[in-house]
Amino acid sequence: MRIGILTSGGDCPGLNAVIRAAVLTGIKEYDYDFVGIRDGWRGLIEGDVRALNRSAVRGLSRVGGTILGTSRTHPYDAEGGGPERMKATMDRLGIDGIIAIGGEGTLAGARRLFNDGLPIVGVPKTIDNDLDATDYTFGFDTAVEIATEAGDRLRTTGDSHMRCMVLEVMGRHVGWIALHSGVSVGAHVILIPEHPVSMEEIGEYVRQVYDRGRAPLVVVSEGFKLKDMEQEYSTKGIDEANRPRLGGISEMLAPMIQEHTGIESRATVLGHIQRGGAPTGADRVLATRFGIGAVRAVADGDWGSMVALRGTDIVRVTLDEALGSLKTVPASRYEEIKHLFG
Ligand code: F6P
Repeated sequence: MRIGILTSGGDCPGLNAVIRAAVLTGIKEYDYDFVGIRDGWRGLIEGDVRALNRSAVRGLSRVGGTILGTSRTHPYDAEGGGPERMKATMDRLGIDGIIAIGGEGTLAGARRLFNDGLPIVGVPKTIDNDLDATDYTFGFDTAVEIATEAGDRLRTTGDSHMRCMVLEVMGRHVGWIALHSGVSVGAHVILIPEHPVSMEEIGEYVRQVYDRGRAPLVVVSEGFKLKDMEQEYSTKGIDEANRPRLGGISEMLAPMIQEHTGIESRATVLGHIQRGGAPTGADRVLATRFGIGAVRAVADGDWGSMVALRGTDIVRVTLDEALGSLKTVPASRYEEIKHLFG
């Protein structure tokens, strides 16, 4: 059997560890053969592939990014896209099935292609950790770790100047990265999309901290909205999937905090640093387990499934279940931590 592997959508630390584990498991246990499909669905549309043998995946679990490249090419809307063309590519290259590693958009494409007859197994990836069907996705732990280090650094410079530092992290419509990194760094206020807060409340927390002689640290998720905002802060247009590009709310908030409290404030947008570089040990382990699980699903002929983490077990869900709902931060998780603010 020959399996094609692709990575699609935004990259994420741990993608290479999935590829390595899938290739090694497939070769060692099932005598499979692998090809790497370049740049997500684009490679499958255009038949752009590379060899993926044992030596191609050597030492890969610690390497960030994806050796296969990625893109946000839509499997149907892109020029030349659609299941017939992809099936023809698979037939021509002798590919019997696909392992597609991606987030919500990729998995939605995979589900549609599966319903149109393509044999596909999904592997979830996103630093945002916003897929409800899995307890965690690899990449999230790395993003939290990087945001924590950034927060620690901001605290020392904030302390030196007695400034309010505002650290903005990614996460799109969910606040998991902000919540976890904010708790880990001991932020004085954590602002997440699921819980709008007014400028008065933020100012109150910041002022309390300052009046105690400390430099306030605010961690804000890029999708956070002040109570009176109707939309998320977005000034960079829309992405290939027609979603508003987020990022930059801290640059709006810091001057507002300064104006509201009179405390000098600075914004830092962490951006893609959260997605680059080596995955943490925890992410390497999860990604490796997902890679093994995906090949086992292929071996069982369980097409149309996605591997997921439940507790400490790797399980399978259907792609339909996988796309059921967004995993938002429950109100109880925010309430649990809120008394530490200020
Ligand atoms: O979904 C992952 C993510 O990093 C989000 O947190 C962020 O909003 C978005 O992707 C950024 O996308 P791009 O890499 O296209 O700028």
